Amino acid sequence: MEFRSAISKGDGVLMVVALVGCIHALFLSPMNCYGSHGEAISTTDRMYLESLSLQGTLTFDNTTASATDWGQLRSQLPPSGVMHPTSVDDIATVVAAVARSESELTVAARGLGSSIWGQSQAHNGIVIEMTSLKGIKVAPLGDAASNGVPFVEAMGGEMWVDVLTTSLEYGLAPRSWTDYLYLTVGGTLSNAGVSGQSFRHGPEVSNVLQLEVVTGTGEVVVCSATKSSELFFAVLGGLGQFGIIAKARIVLEVAPQRVRWIRAIYTDFATFKADQELLIGAAQPFDYVEGFVVLNNENAINGWGSVPFVRSDINAAMIPGHAGAIMYCLEVTKAYSAAALPTLDQVCITSSQASVPTPSWARIEWSGTAMMIVFCLRCDCDSGFLKDEVTGMATSDACQ
Ligand SMILES: *[C@@H]1O[C@H](CO)[C@@H](O)[C@H](O)[C@H]1NC(C)=O
Repeated sequence: MEFRSAISKGDGVLMVVALVGCIHALFLSPMNCYGSHGEAISTTDRMYLESLSLQGTLTFDNTTASATDWGQLRSQLPPSGVMHPTSVDDIATVVAAVARSESELTVAARGLGSSIWGQSQAHNGIVIEMTSLKGIKVAPLGDAASNGVPFVEAMGGEMWVDVLTTSLEYGLAPRSWTDYLYLTVGGTLSNAGVSGQSFRHGPEVSNVLQLEVVTGTGEVVVCSATKSSELFFAVLGGLGQFGIIAKARIVLEVAPQRVRWIRAIYTDFATFKADQELLIGAAQPFDYVEGFVVLNNENAINGWGSVPFVRSDINAAMIPGHAGAIMYCLEVTKAYSAAALPTLDQVCITSSQASVPTPSWARIEWSGTAMMIVFCLRCDCDSGFLKDEVTGMATSDACQ
């Protein structure tokens, strides 16, 4: 399936795209225009683009750094030009120029290039490197439009990890994230932004108050659920086909100080699924519930070697003999304040209202407490936090 950029020709932005194949939505970046078979930029277009008055930079030399993405399935497709904007107007100016260009010039907004199929690339077109445009501002008391609900306003190229750490300075945090936070705001909001909080708060796209969007004709539009709502809802999860997310207002909540953090491995899918449903449906549910597949091998990426905490290594002897090639892992947290550390028993009983009906042979469990920030950064393998901050690690049978 190909997503030709609807904005490359300036013929309006509302192109309907099928959502089939968006299962990797977490990783995609804004403004897709892969599939460009465009020819090298014409002299006229290049001269026109070079004549633009910009605050940031637009270069046509050595564009290889913007020629690839994380997936590397469509690698080394260099754009003609790369812009590093320092204002929203820069983005609007270049998109408007591309829209007016005489050739089949395409444009793609690139965050950190975490797309898997070239969505942030524009072969022979213009790549806008969104990360050069900085800005994160917290409104701890919200405003009239948000009815006092606190929010953070972040530029599209800012990373979620920076949004989180800035919000935490006010004791606040976004209530819905992705697992991996080294992704840009504009990138995940162009997709969905799914994690273990989605069952309570919806994905990231359901927690946005307002967007500032650059449309395919280079217009800057501020939109929300009540203002230019068609554009607002098209851009959120719109796979970059309806405009570039230049700025977003994201709902915040009071940040928990610490979390009780549990991971449990299951050998049997039915039990795993039943427990997951139980935890999600509980009257006082956990704050975070996520499940994933684990291979029955030591692989540090996708095997049980990837599951345990530091200081409580899993070993082959702990895996029941009847386990098949595929196992399942539940990851759950319960937030609490430092003053009221619940025991694991309390967490389990309040959350699931009953003892979890799991045969003890079905799972191996780790639990511990961690600073919330540690939990948030758990997908960052280089984070020193994990080694220093996770406490109370032990194999536990408290829930059985
Ligand atoms: C072009 O840019 C890449 C990536 O930034 C760099 O590694 C390479 O050395 C550059 N090549 C030239 C000829 O400047």
